[in-house]
Amino acid sequence: MTLPIDRLEQTLRKTGVSRFMEHFETLFPETHLKDLVVDAVGPGREIVINGRRVVNFGCDSFLGLDQHPRLIEAIETSVRHWGTHNGSSRIFASVRANVQAEEILAQWLGTEATLIYPSVTLANLGAIPGLVGKADVIVYDEFAHNSIQEGIRIAKANGTRSAMFRHNDPADLERQLHALRPYRFALIAVDGVYSMTGDLPPLRDFQAIALQHDAVLYIDDAHGTGVLGEHGRGTVLESLGSYDNTLVVGSLSKGFSCLGGFIGCSRSFQRQLKIRSNSYIFGGPVPPPYLDAIITATEILLSSEYPLLRARLKTYVDRLTTGCREMGLTVLGGATPIVSVFIGDEADTLQVGKLLFDAGYYVQSVTFPAVPYHGGVIRIQVNANHTSAQIEGLLDALGETMTTLLARSSRRAA
Ligand SMILES: Cc1ncc(COP(=O)(O)O)c(C=O)c1O
Repeated sequence: MTLPIDRLEQTLRKTGVSRFMEHFETLFPETHLKDLVVDAVGPGREIVINGRRVVNFGCDSFLGLDQHPRLIEAIETSVRHWGTHNGSSRIFASVRANVQAEEILAQWLGTEATLIYPSVTLANLGAIPGLVGKADVIVYDEFAHNSIQEGIRIAKANGTRSAMFRHNDPADLERQLHALRPYRFALIAVDGVYSMTGDLPPLRDFQAIALQHDAVLYIDDAHGTGVLGEHGRGTVLESLGSYDNTLVVGSLSKGFSCLGGFIGCSRSFQRQLKIRSNSYIFGGPVPPPYLDAIITATEILLSSEYPLLRARLKTYVDRLTTGCREMGLTVLGGATPIVSVFIGDEADTLQVGKLLFDAGYYVQSVTFPAVPYHGGVIRIQVNANHTSAQIEGLLDALGETMTTLLARSSRRAA
């Protein structure tokens, strides 16, 4: 007799997403480059995968802080001081480093308080359903990050109504709010920057609508944290001039190169989030060594070193973008250090990724369903601790790869 768990696994394999992934792996066994294992990191941005040393252009440690001596020292010192973990849910007790990390984050961000979660996903899954009840509604951008949409699913299961509005479209946002009336409060949930395209939401328009419609802005600025705005505070203060009527979510795992996510808010709202976020109450916290690293990373963002790191990053992003455009390639994005080169066809997108890998450069080939069908892109993540030679090398390799691809396509067409 087969066990139910075996029959469950067989059933799962027959469902849409699993079949799609298996088909994908069978179709592109040599080029899909997913589920890779990194055997070594360094020096600098080099990594070793499958015995091959390549330059990593798939890393979201945008400022290169993952290798900053001060962060490494902070973690080493902290682990000796606190040990490896906090030991309980924060509802019972937090290490002092947690409170200090939240305080320095608030000083840097310019909010009264922040609350740290173990990831942005857990912030969204915990806070969004915690903020609304049956009398409230949530409206969200159609391209809002998956974790926002998952948080909304939990809220819906608890009886909150929701509607999606067209990407970055204030008129549609207003239409959806009208259609949902009557309600008590509305939550408008958007990304602070859309990482696949690099575009930003029209926050001023959204705020004007929010104020007219009893709504609060919930902005997941994960990709803006550390790299956009003054001292890397992200997109919100820059766009709105204040944090009034907003809840701002930031990432501690990308630009910060540590671990976690946070919500910036008033002190009284922080209290509400602590009481109402299930992921905070029932889950474990960020381990102490990472909290000390967060404190150090924030000090770096506030220091005179930050503009230097940011300037180097900008030089690299500008050079890569210009170089790609000079080759006739279509580059999407611009706001963040993610340079997405449009390829289109799925097989071609994977092929470009594989040819670059063979040439010594790891980039991410992103295809459907992460982007629209036939909308494949090569996603290049630039870090401040890349070198000019690595940027030039990638551009040369990209030029050769596109020539090879073109020759293959014309042979296929002939
Ligand atoms: C907008 C946004 N929110 C949330 C996440 C997930 O963050 P985490 O890895 O901290 O859960 C990402 C990751 O790319 C993101 O871009």
